[in-house]
Amino acid sequence: MPRRAIRLKTKAPSPELAQKYFRHWSQGELYQHPEHFPRLASPAFFGNECPLDLEIGCGTGEFLCWLAAQEPEVNFVGVDVFAKALYKGVEEASEMGLENIVFIRAPIQFVYPVLPDNAIRTIYMHYPDPHLRARGQHKIFNSPFLDEVHRVLEPGGTLSLVTDHEALFFEEILPMVEADRRFTPLHEERYLVGYEVALKSRYQKMWEKHEVPPLRLEVKKNG
Ligand SMILES: C[S@@+](CC[C@H](N)C(=O)[O-])C[C@H]1O[C@@H](n2cnc3c(N)ncnc32)[C@H](O)[C@@H]1O
Repeated sequence: MPRRAIRLKTKAPSPELAQKYFRHWSQGELYQHPEHFPRLASPAFFGNECPLDLEIGCGTGEFLCWLAAQEPEVNFVGVDVFAKALYKGVEEASEMGLENIVFIRAPIQFVYPVLPDNAIRTIYMHYPDPHLRARGQHKIFNSPFLDEVHRVLEPGGTLSLVTDHEALFFEEILPMVEADRRFTPLHEERYLVGYEVALKSRYQKMWEKHEVPPLRLEVKKNG
């Protein structure tokens, strides 16, 4: 099935909602002056020491909002480059009255310098763009990504990877993660097919409608 950009009807959040749920971090400023940004950790963002989960490429944020509602004692941050998608996430978080979630608009590669070591409990990367046209460029999943994941996850912290894309999964994600002895799978099977969660993300629903099952890996950081 061809990949098309999703059109979203939404508008920028009010100043009050933006202050609570939304940050727009400039790529240039992050690159030049990462020291101008708060450390992406619970104390700076939520004023507490609760565990922190991060979704990379969270899109419209419904999965993350659902997780945040399940675990009020955990904080959740979603990072994405697509403003309109994040505005949807902000709308949803506000309608659900969530106090433990923030969305950041920025390319994740530029956010790495503000992520402290051992600070994150779980990282979700679900349905990353495979970047078919610009193969190799601007990819999120690569070996520097795994280095960063290893650095920022707390010991025993989890990385959840889901994709619809067979080539990305079998040629890149699976071999690279399997070869990386810093992580241990959380399942007996080499990989998982299907993802039964109470709330499925926009992309999971879309691909399942086209009978493309999710391919999945869950690993934990050793130590
Ligand atoms: C296919 S969508 C998946 C969205 C969501 N995870 C879901 O399951 O519905 C991929 C998302 O990754 C975002 N993305 C692409 N490159 C990114 C980057 N460098 N940093 C952060 N997000 C990125 C896109 O804007 C898009 O919202």
